Amino acid sequence: GEQKQLKEVAGIPLQATTVDNWSQIQKFEAKPDDLLICTYPKSGTTWIQEIVDMIEHNGDVEKCQQVIIQHRHPFIEWARPPQPSGVEKASAMPSPRILRTHLPTQLLPPSFWENNCKFLYVARNAKDCMVSYYHFQRMNQILPDPGTWEEYFETFISGKVPWGPWFDHVKGWWKIRDRYEILFLFFEDMKRNLKHEIQKVVHFMGKNLDETVLDKIVQETSFEKMKENPLTNRSTVPKSILDQSISPFMRKGTVGDWKNHFTVSQNERFDQIYREKMEGTSIKFCMDL
Ligand code: A3P
Repeated sequence: GEQKQLKEVAGIPLQATTVDNWSQIQKFEAKPDDLLICTYPKSGTTWIQEIVDMIEHNGDVEKCQQVIIQHRHPFIEWARPPQPSGVEKASAMPSPRILRTHLPTQLLPPSFWENNCKFLYVARNAKDCMVSYYHFQRMNQILPDPGTWEEYFETFISGKVPWGPWFDHVKGWWKIRDRYEILFLFFEDMKRNLKHEIQKVVHFMGKNLDETVLDKIVQETSFEKMKENPLTNRSTVPKSILDQSISPFMRKGTVGDWKNHFTVSQNERFDQIYREKMEGTSIKFCMDL
């Protein structure tokens, strides 16, 4: 349908409704105390935002849920008329605001840089990210159909997926990590030692939490807990948008599921392309725990 269309901005495919709203998005007025959660799609956005919320509300689950119902951190580039756009929702929010985006650095509204906002970036290894995105595009009824796994493999590599190529996204944010106030985290580190990564976020947000609160946050943000929680498993989103009978939103939450999808030859080809595209960057990913 028409809603599933992608349009490009400077070579990056985005949802058509986002592109239609592009001038409003670029004029977004950030504030110096904004915290922006930045991710390539399927890299742990929901996970990190739950962690940030729990930290913000001292591990108070009830309080957290109220806030989530009122305004789950708006996506800057979200636009789906007649609903209020992400920009409009963010403008109506009290400060300090926590916002979200999947935009690559070159498309971010300039006022985020000008105001020296805090950025919390979560990166996930490309192979698991591709697998997760494939299943997400299967179940997401407002994004293009991914086709077969073989077809999607090519589409993902070519970067003709919503929000563009994984490679440039990750390289772009990694490159500027020391130039701005950026906390750069990895999905795989979160799987390996969640408490340690949460402590980094606590520190980055300028908070100080009791050990018991910290332990509670670790428990509440486990995959199992978040899969059960109606506010994080997206079960409240209508089937016409997310069809969870095709694939659940909280799907597996593991590192290394790519091994169940990539053939040996796909894996060789991918490694080759990866080396070419990631040449010259120092970023290192773990592909297996
Ligand atoms: P899988 O599809 O591999 O299961 P996003 O929120 O950016 O869309 O990312 C979704 C991915 O993060 C999904 O990956 C989802 O299962 C995983 N995820 C969400 N919460 C998680 C958690 N608490 N622990 C581990 N993985 C989680």
